[in-house]
Amino acid sequence: MADVVLQTRNLTKDFTKRRGISSPGRFFEKRTVTAVKDVNLSVERGEIFGLLGPNGAGKTTLTKMLCTLLLPSSGSATVNGFDLVRQQSKVKSSIALISSEERSFYWRLSGLQNLSFFAALYGLSAEQARRRIPEVLEIVGMTEAAGRRFQEYSTGMKQRMGLARGLLADPDIFFMDEPTKGLDPVATLQLHEFIASRLVNEGKTVILATHHLVEAEQVCDRVAIMSGGRLRACGRVRELAGDTSLSDYFISLVEEEQVQS
Ligand SMILES: Nc1ncnc2c1ncn2[C@@H]1O[C@H](COP(=O)(O)OP(=O)(O)OP(=O)(O)O)[C@@H](O)[C@H]1O
Ligand SMILES: [Mg+2]
Repeated sequence: MADVVLQTRNLTKDFTKRRGISSPGRFFEKRTVTAVKDVNLSVERGEIFGLLGPNGAGKTTLTKMLCTLLLPSSGSATVNGFDLVRQQSKVKSSIALISSEERSFYWRLSGLQNLSFFAALYGLSAEQARRRIPEVLEIVGMTEAAGRRFQEYSTGMKQRMGLARGLLADPDIFFMDEPTKGLDPVATLQLHEFIASRLVNEGKTVILATHHLVEAEQVCDRVAIMSGGRLRACGRVRELAGDTSLSDYFISLVEEEQVQS
């Protein structure tokens, strides 16, 4: 029987915003944005699974919920067999999130000092950290630059360090949110190869959010297509590309890619 590592049932996230006072003495006007709506997903252990969709589709919101960074408004999910809400700490120790938004590094410390700090935070012993840090630096091609201050790194180098940090704890499931944004073509290829060889060989599961159709096709076993917070379809990219009811959608993704490149 298939080993399901991630399952969501009608997972939904609403954001409620207040828009200010409409007139004196009246309550704040509220506006609700449903970023993710009734998402039902099932991912098997060892799969590279893509969340494919244009800007605002809900990929990051869904990813953040599955990483326990945002509480769902309704619905439920299990990650690595653990309930997303009731067993948050077990979910956290099963996952790593690699995202292109790198805000949590200490800019005045070196890359190496940052990784030592995060290794301790993730509960690695001094001995484990001593072995693991050089290994992850090597994987992301940052061995030479490890002694430089984080603030001196280029965007792509910062992102490589984000990947290195994600690899420190060696979790079962990797969530990657636009992991190649800001990477040059060589680094992008290296990351794709790393996912396809190393992570797959080690039986890891990868949930990769992207709006790049080509990236999804090259890297992912299956993809879920998202738009307007909903799942429109799920399957292999090649199969979905042949589905005429989705052709407008694929054309809009390709157009978006062309505008951004
Ligand atoms: N904190 C928030 N408050 C209000 N609305 C939000 C918030 N975060 C996201 N949204 C809205 O939810 C929707 C989905 O956003 P999300 O960032 O998940 O999309 P995305 O697919 O990751 O897009 P992108 O490709 O641009 O990263 C958008 O309409 C966005 O404006
Ligand atoms: Mg996003």
